[in-house]
Amino acid sequence: MFSTKPYDRRGFDAAAEGHPIDIEALDTRLDRHTVALAQGADAVCIFVNDDASAPVLDALAAGGTKTVALRCAGFNNVDLEAARRLGITVVRVPSYSPNAVAEHTIALILSLNRHIHRAYNRVRDGNFALDGLVGFDVAGKTAAVIGTGQIGMIVARLLWHFRCDVLAVDPYPDEHLLELGVEYVDLDVALERADIVTLNCPLTDDTHHLIDAATISQMKSGAMLVNTGRGALVDTVAMLDGLKSGQVGSLALDVYEEEGELFFEDRSAEIIDDDVFARLQTMPNVLITAHQGFLTREALASIAETTIANVLTVASGSVSPNQL
Ligand code: NAI
Repeated sequence: MFSTKPYDRRGFDAAAEGHPIDIEALDTRLDRHTVALAQGADAVCIFVNDDASAPVLDALAAGGTKTVALRCAGFNNVDLEAARRLGITVVRVPSYSPNAVAEHTIALILSLNRHIHRAYNRVRDGNFALDGLVGFDVAGKTAAVIGTGQIGMIVARLLWHFRCDVLAVDPYPDEHLLELGVEYVDLDVALERADIVTLNCPLTDDTHHLIDAATISQMKSGAMLVNTGRGALVDTVAMLDGLKSGQVGSLALDVYEEEGELFFEDRSAEIIDDDVFARLQTMPNVLITAHQGFLTREALASIAETTIANVLTVASGSVSPNQL
């Protein structure tokens, strides 16, 4: 098990109890330098920033690994074609708690709009001035949800409960959202009309840099963008320009395209070597969390239980419903 944190360990130890499975938990990230540590493991359990590209999968197969078990929903970090060629089964956790990520998305929207991140620091510092903390009523605004799968569907419902006009972009419209009055539109229409845009679609070749200089220019001037999907849905350099010009009014990120070098570690004593990220951090209208959308007790327990079940199913020779 790579990239293991204490909060993973607790859930996995509980889920594995009573099953014929020995877990060797490593805090290191899986990549071509660390893959030798998996030598002899039947299955390798990885997370969002582990590298399961073809050369790493080659080395895993040579070391006897037959299963790669993602303990997350997204699988953009796995070369599925190489896995198939090598006879490695890839399983994931398609759904653990869509509420966790959806609620975090709403938390980011509300915090960013009402400047809670800045207000908290001001009050702690004895500064009770309100200048610069003006927000807007979310009620009555137009919100666009890009991707209304398990997570986006809940985000859309929650925004509807906030009395937003909800637009949605997805090739597969959700019946319940249509019944609520959510309007499915094309991306350009959503960007033109929305005051709040939230990205809840997966990262694929089609959605890579879905938000780039061209689509930023289509956005309503001063709109808020929230990304809790995957970092590379947004071209961050173009986003910096959008923020500097005011075309993008505010930005909340739980994911960042170069997060692999930053997130999940304490780097408070280091100099951040990523100038794009460092520039984002200086902006008062940017709120960043370090990929914690999934981090609820319920989601962690569900991730561990599904992953253990996936590995045991594959090991028994059966086909897991969560196989890619
Ligand atoms: P899902 O597969 O249930 O839904 C994704 C939806 O996006 C589908 O309805 C699909 O039709 C739609 N879609 C695909 N391409 C699109 C496009 N070009 N434009 C608009 N819609 C498009 O996935 P789920 O569970 O809702 O998760 C969504 C994403 O959230 C995951 O792929 C993952 O990257 C991210 N995620 C982030 C987490 C975090 O901690 N921040 C945790 C879990 C997932």
